[in-house]
Amino acid sequence: MKYLVILSALACVAYAQIPGPCQSPKQWEARVLTLDRSKNFTQFGKVSYDETQRRERIIEEVEFGSDRDYFDTLFLHNVGKGYILNLKTRKCNVTNLTEPFIPRGVPREAEFEGEATIGAAGVPGEFMVVENFKGTFRSTGAKFFGVSTVPDCMPIEFGYYSEKTGFVQQTMFDVNIGISDPNVFIPPKECL
Ligand SMILES: *[C@@H]1O[C@H](CO)[C@@H](O)[C@H](O)[C@H]1NC(C)=O
Ligand SMILES: *[C@@H]1O[C@H](CO)[C@@H](O)[C@H](O)[C@H]1NC(C)=O
Ligand SMILES: *[C@@H]1O[C@H](CO)[C@@H](O)[C@H](O)[C@H]1NC(C)=O
Repeated sequence: MKYLVILSALACVAYAQIPGPCQSPKQWEARVLTLDRSKNFTQFGKVSYDETQRRERIIEEVEFGSDRDYFDTLFLHNVGKGYILNLKTRKCNVTNLTEPFIPRGVPREAEFEGEATIGAAGVPGEFMVVENFKGTFRSTGAKFFGVSTVPDCMPIEFGYYSEKTGFVQQTMFDVNIGISDPNVFIPPKECL
């Protein structure tokens, strides 16, 4: 009987180690590099992400010397509103959001493809173990793929493809879990 208990405890541990869909942090901030291949578009921005309330703020980093337009965007999917502030003209567009919120955490539908290392494997402090995942969103049929940390599933890279958006890929840097200033989800004054 005693052996049986120990055996089943071991079985549980082994089961828990099989990689599978996991719970990514629901709120985080990061610098994000976005590549939108269908539009030939590259953007560096500071992102505040709140999956629980489906809110996302992206303040684009202005590139010195560039004369293109830069934007501060706030998407409040919980109330269906988008605020797009042009950082050059300070003009704001308020829109009704029609696209669904795209979660950036590892989706429930994700299939894990196995672990890999990033950096110089075996050199202390120079590498980390990551997990590759991919799948199809049940809600929209959009395909996604990504790379996350192990075991806490913080996405490092997240990409998706749909007919409507084309191929969009994001890489997260300097991630901090949580939201440092909750006011980040209040629309800029130019938008009110
Ligand atoms: C993207 O850039 C390539 C190469 O410069 C060009 O051929 C293509 O037409 C561009 N696509 C768009 C959507 O601007
Ligand atoms: C705001 O909306 C108008 C009309 O739809 C559009 O022409 C303009 O480009 C938009 N500006 C921004 C910053 O999105
Ligand atoms: C957004 O939706 C509201 C309420 O349905 C409507 O009154 C308003 O005109 C819409 N705004 C835009 C820009 O479509």
